[in-house]
Amino acid sequence: MNSLQSLPNFAAVILAAGKGTRMKSDLPKVLHCVANRPMVAHVTHTASQLNPSHIVIVTAPQMESVLHAAQRITPTCLHAIQPQQLGTGDAVKAAQSALKNHKDATLVLYGDTPLIRPETLAQMLQATLHSDIVVLGMRPKDPASYGRLIVNEAGELEEIIEFKDADEEIRAINLCNSGVMAISGKAKLFDLLAQLTNNNANGEYYLTDVVSIARSKGLHCSVVEATEAELMGVNSRAELAQAEAIFQHHMRQHAMQNGATLIAPETVYFSADTQIGRDVIIQPNVYFGEDVTVGNHVEIRMSCHIEGAHIGDDCIVGPFARLRPGTTLAGDNKVGNFVELKKAQLDMGAQASHLSYLGDAFIGKDSNIGAGTITCNYDGYHKFETHIGANAFIGSNSALVAPVTIGDGAIIGAGSVITKDVTPDALALTRANQHEKIDGAKAFRIKKNQGNS
Ligand code: UD1
Ligand code: CA
Repeated sequence: MNSLQSLPNFAAVILAAGKGTRMKSDLPKVLHCVANRPMVAHVTHTASQLNPSHIVIVTAPQMESVLHAAQRITPTCLHAIQPQQLGTGDAVKAAQSALKNHKDATLVLYGDTPLIRPETLAQMLQATLHSDIVVLGMRPKDPASYGRLIVNEAGELEEIIEFKDADEEIRAINLCNSGVMAISGKAKLFDLLAQLTNNNANGEYYLTDVVSIARSKGLHCSVVEATEAELMGVNSRAELAQAEAIFQHHMRQHAMQNGATLIAPETVYFSADTQIGRDVIIQPNVYFGEDVTVGNHVEIRMSCHIEGAHIGDDCIVGPFARLRPGTTLAGDNKVGNFVELKKAQLDMGAQASHLSYLGDAFIGKDSNIGAGTITCNYDGYHKFETHIGANAFIGSNSALVAPVTIGDGAIIGAGSVITKDVTPDALALTRANQHEKIDGAKAFRIKKNQGNS
């Protein structure tokens, strides 16, 4: 964000006390994920990009899981508990003690509105330099039950009227309240909140009423508008899928703008934190889980599942490869079809081209892992490590029983079961010697054929 310098200091308050009953879930609504990141963490992450002095998440009691999920992405988040869900105004009041010495602007956000962009929030905060309260409005195709924004001829916001409290004339207004609000320090948010009543159709303390209270004190209120897609709130699984689709679309566009080729973009799934380099080619049906980085000049072929993995420059991954957490490809690596890597580090140029499991393993520079190699890393109780040096050659269908070290330049004969360390440059093999009986096959067939006649 380059316009950061001109932003006023502010605190962000994120409302997340709602149960979200329409999700039909045991999980609080805001913990449902978009691009593998809980919705509430999308909001805290977006707010944190603008450097707020505080981020306070308001939840109902017994919702520490919401705070913890947000803190994984935004460690500085604070928690406020709203004992009873008495309305959005009451929810913001719950943040008061967490913001005791806070005198600057306050930005109120909802935890279930994950697509909001930092640019929009910056625009609102900038507007608080001239306006005491700034409300984020939208003009949805179907204004449905949103609160309506009443704006006068001068373009000033006069009032917000909730759908349930509105008559037909008000309901015909299509400028709606998204719920996001920025309140300048001068407007003294908590003084305004102290004046709220619950004398309305819902019997709730409406945050939206601070606008008319502010107006009655001669304060100035205004509207900033954004698109309906950016401001969509998630209330159901279907809306969650819609938010996911919008977010994935943005991630794909972003990857392409940064120089990646997506052959079939709509089949590639990113996580919110996926980082893709330049000149990366991604074939169809690739899934990126959390915590993946991909360097430059990388080709990811069809149908790979990649999570918790760091792929260096000039690698070829897949088709059909699975990279699990703790995997690093240093660069110039090849990981081919039906190869599974878990906590595996491949040094520069190391290759595993076919049908392998490499878990808890280090593979040295330029080493080659033959087809069907398995690191036996688990004895049913504990995990053990395999260390393979540089320029080693592991013959096909070998089992490396960990803990075990294969020295630099060693060769493992195909089909070996290696249980002891192998010294550098040694040839190790555990196969039984091959025996041959001249004409033995012929003799066998003659015997069998005699039996049949
Ligand atoms: C609210 C706005 C409405 C706006 C709409 C946009 C009010 C009074 N109305 O209505 O103008 O068009 O959002 O979506 O503000 N929450 C709490 N504690 C509470 C109540 C709510 O934390 O006691 C949280 C919810 O978890 C949710 C958010 O506040 O994240 C909004 O609450 P909700 O009840 O959905 O508000 P609406 O009635 O939709
Ligand atoms: Ca709502």
